[in-house]
Amino acid sequence: MKTIIEPFRIKMVEPIKLTTRQERERMIEEACYNPFQLRAEDVIIDLLTDSGTSAMSSEAWSAMMRGDESYAGARSWYRFRDTVTDIFGFKQVIPTHQGRAAEHILFGVMVQADSIVPNNTHFDTTRANIEYCGGTAVDLVCSEAGDTESDFAFKGNMDIAALEKLVAAQGAEHITIIMLTISNNSGGGQAVSMANIREVSRIAHDAGIPFYLDACRFAENAQFIHRCEPGYENTPPIDIAREMFGYADGCTMSAKKDSFANIGGFLCTNDADLAQRERNILILTEGFPTYGGLAGRDLEAIAVGLREVLEESYLDYRLLSTRYVVEHLHDLGIPVVRPAGGHAVYLDARRFLPHIEPLQYPGQALAVELYIEAGVRCVEIGTVMFGSNPHTGEESPAHQDLVRLAIPRRVYTQSHMDYVLEAINLVWERRAEIRGLRITEAPQFLRHFTAKFERVE
Ligand SMILES: Cc1ncc(COP(=O)(O)O)c(C=O)c1O
Repeated sequence: MKTIIEPFRIKMVEPIKLTTRQERERMIEEACYNPFQLRAEDVIIDLLTDSGTSAMSSEAWSAMMRGDESYAGARSWYRFRDTVTDIFGFKQVIPTHQGRAAEHILFGVMVQADSIVPNNTHFDTTRANIEYCGGTAVDLVCSEAGDTESDFAFKGNMDIAALEKLVAAQGAEHITIIMLTISNNSGGGQAVSMANIREVSRIAHDAGIPFYLDACRFAENAQFIHRCEPGYENTPPIDIAREMFGYADGCTMSAKKDSFANIGGFLCTNDADLAQRERNILILTEGFPTYGGLAGRDLEAIAVGLREVLEESYLDYRLLSTRYVVEHLHDLGIPVVRPAGGHAVYLDARRFLPHIEPLQYPGQALAVELYIEAGVRCVEIGTVMFGSNPHTGEESPAHQDLVRLAIPRRVYTQSHMDYVLEAINLVWERRAEIRGLRITEAPQFLRHFTAKFERVE
């Protein structure tokens, strides 16, 4: 069969309010041209993020009813811990309320003023948490990543030569952690190969540097390895996941992605002393080590979701449905990052709107137009997100200006995706009339969430 079907039935629905173009023009102006400032009910298709927006299964909802809300040592904690240990394999598991809390604790313990943390591409909260601790976050993604037209299957890979050079120059004295984000969200949602994970692990361990995975989308990454990396055709995603984590010393995880939960995360390590220091901070900021900022029912939902996300029928549907959108856009001649990543579609805003210079934020301008055109909400990943140095306030163009349309798991159907394709094409047809934006107000850190914009005349 060529038709991709959603491998689930819909049991409960949430109505979508349909708005007019005139209403949307007013609402985005009132939101100061920042889609984060819109009310969710004024959005028709919400592709702002795939984080915490998944549809949970009947199994996960049932498990939530079994949540043990005891303060310490709850049954739900043991179910959560045992599932994480079985799949991720690390000796120490520390629950947190979401991924950035895990990052904050990890970097709070390990990063100092002269610390350097390389990654393929740091996600915004990862970079901000390192910089907040005084460290320097360095992106070392492979050269293929910059070419949005290259169809190399593992564009999330680390640039091995660049990493070796950095390690030789700075050594374990300054490089406190080496990270890999699987898959590489800020770099187009591209996968990292097992060969690359193995190589980065070897470099880190030869130099005596701990190696961590940012594991938010580990199952999608495992499925890319299963489908595209020779030698893994017959290995189920769960065994691929175990092998990936086997090369690392720890991980940070947002359970809001590849475990279908609406909230949650965790931090893992094999180092018992480090875990003790991390738990001391956890108690101060998140909660007791057997719940870490989560309710027992959340721990239950995560435990179920971590198993479901590794089912091959789900992962096949997930990757194919994202590819469906990407390949249709490519056929229409619309600049889009290829090959398709797992969780999102990335428009190349610099090529979509070549008449808007990076410091007038083509990605933000495009995101605004998609909302006006059809009520589709998405996010800029470019100069607004990464172009400002929070310590000096200086601005420079980011490496790329992308617009990310993140697809919530099991939420939208193919007809919703056809609507999104039509909306993008309508904006593409009137692209010459779209103007850039300027920032009128922005905070020091993570400015894209709250910055205010106005149109450039
Ligand atoms: C790669 C990556 N790392 C870390 C995070 C942070 O996770 P959270 O939103 O749960 O704090 C995200 C969230 O989108 C992410 O995509």
